[in-house]
Amino acid sequence: MHQKTSIISDFEHHVSSQKVAFFKKYGMDFVMGERENIRIRDVENGTELINLHCNGGVFNLGHRNPQIIATLKDALDHFDIGNHHFISSERAKAAKMLTDLMPGDLSYTVFGVSGGEATDTAIKVARSFTKKQKIISVKGGYHGHTGLALATGDEKYRKPFGDDLPGFEQCTFGDIEALKSALDGNTAAVILETIPATLGMPIPSPEYLKTIRQICDENQVLLILDEVQSGLGRTGKLWAFEHYGIVPDIVVLGKGLSGGIYPISATVLRKPLESVFHSDPFIHISTYGGAELGCVVMQKVLEISSAPEFLDHVNQMATIFKTEIDKLMVKHGGFLTGLRQKGLMMGLEMKDEDCGPLLTKTAYDNGLLIIYANNDKRVCQLLPPLILREEQVPEIMTRLDKALSQARKLRPLLKVKNVVTGWLKHEK
Ligand SMILES: Cc1ncc(COP(=O)(O)O)c(C=O)c1O
Repeated sequence: MHQKTSIISDFEHHVSSQKVAFFKKYGMDFVMGERENIRIRDVENGTELINLHCNGGVFNLGHRNPQIIATLKDALDHFDIGNHHFISSERAKAAKMLTDLMPGDLSYTVFGVSGGEATDTAIKVARSFTKKQKIISVKGGYHGHTGLALATGDEKYRKPFGDDLPGFEQCTFGDIEALKSALDGNTAAVILETIPATLGMPIPSPEYLKTIRQICDENQVLLILDEVQSGLGRTGKLWAFEHYGIVPDIVVLGKGLSGGIYPISATVLRKPLESVFHSDPFIHISTYGGAELGCVVMQKVLEISSAPEFLDHVNQMATIFKTEIDKLMVKHGGFLTGLRQKGLMMGLEMKDEDCGPLLTKTAYDNGLLIIYANNDKRVCQLLPPLILREEQVPEIMTRLDKALSQARKLRPLLKVKNVVTGWLKHEK
């Protein structure tokens, strides 16, 4: 058996039979082999993709960033996971560095492994601090698939896995009146992504986020901002909320904090909130959360991402993307209908819900990894690595142009045919 055939067979029989069926059906049975900078290659067949999704920001610094690898290699000479009970030099350093980069009194960090875990922690802290229960989230928002994070999400993700947890309510993004009517005397917190990625990157107006902050203050409700995707320079500022002149009570971080190399997440708390752990500092535990190796990696990620020249670069690249995508919007008018953008956090808005999945496929066929937004399929998420260089852009735009042309050609046919592997391949 060829290497790839045997990998796919093992995956099918021991990880997920239906993922294999899905990817085979759509001719996308890519198996990640070599990876470097902005590119990933199939383990066998020579297919190469430029990664413009980056797992939602995990690969902000590109694949196998040499600085991150060198940092981890060096750390391996000294550290391991560490011990989550003891006082730790690396946790202390990483938390100090992170909170020094936050405004106001956002000065404590609870470490975790994943964004979902960090969200769960944020909700636990909010409930404990306020002694209230209700958590208001945004329809189509996404904070993870763990317990409390899952409970903030849409019904389609929760329903297959049992009864709803009490104390959660969603309201429509952008609708202040809906938020006001969801609010009651038992509300502990409002949670939302500063820019909701799975909802297709709708860019909030400054008034919207400012008003939410004000409503939270007036009602002694905490504001939790999830910057798992939008943080760490993605929007051209270190934290996306800096664009809006507000400071949240709790910030949730993950993905890019790992440097794409060592999983780590963080829940950053305003100073008074740390009091929830005063009576029992061991009440919340994460064995691998804030592993010392991860903390070393995270310090390097913060050093790189907070450098003014790094953020300048993100803003320059964002301007270039806007210029180029505006041109594509003219060329593919009526199909590509809008660009949602804050820095390099971008969504390509298209005509209807068929378009996101279709462009995902035609982009793949042209060597680009972009993925439609699962909670608004009109939109493809566009999150290039932040280390992308200007000279790499023309190749991306040529491929995107071809992908858009193919998607436009195929779209009318979707109404009369099912998309099947051979058919889409035939159109290449
Ligand atoms: C905005 C946001 N928050 C939280 C999460 C959950 O992170 P994780 O998958 O690491 O649990 C994600 C994951 O995609 C996310 O996009």
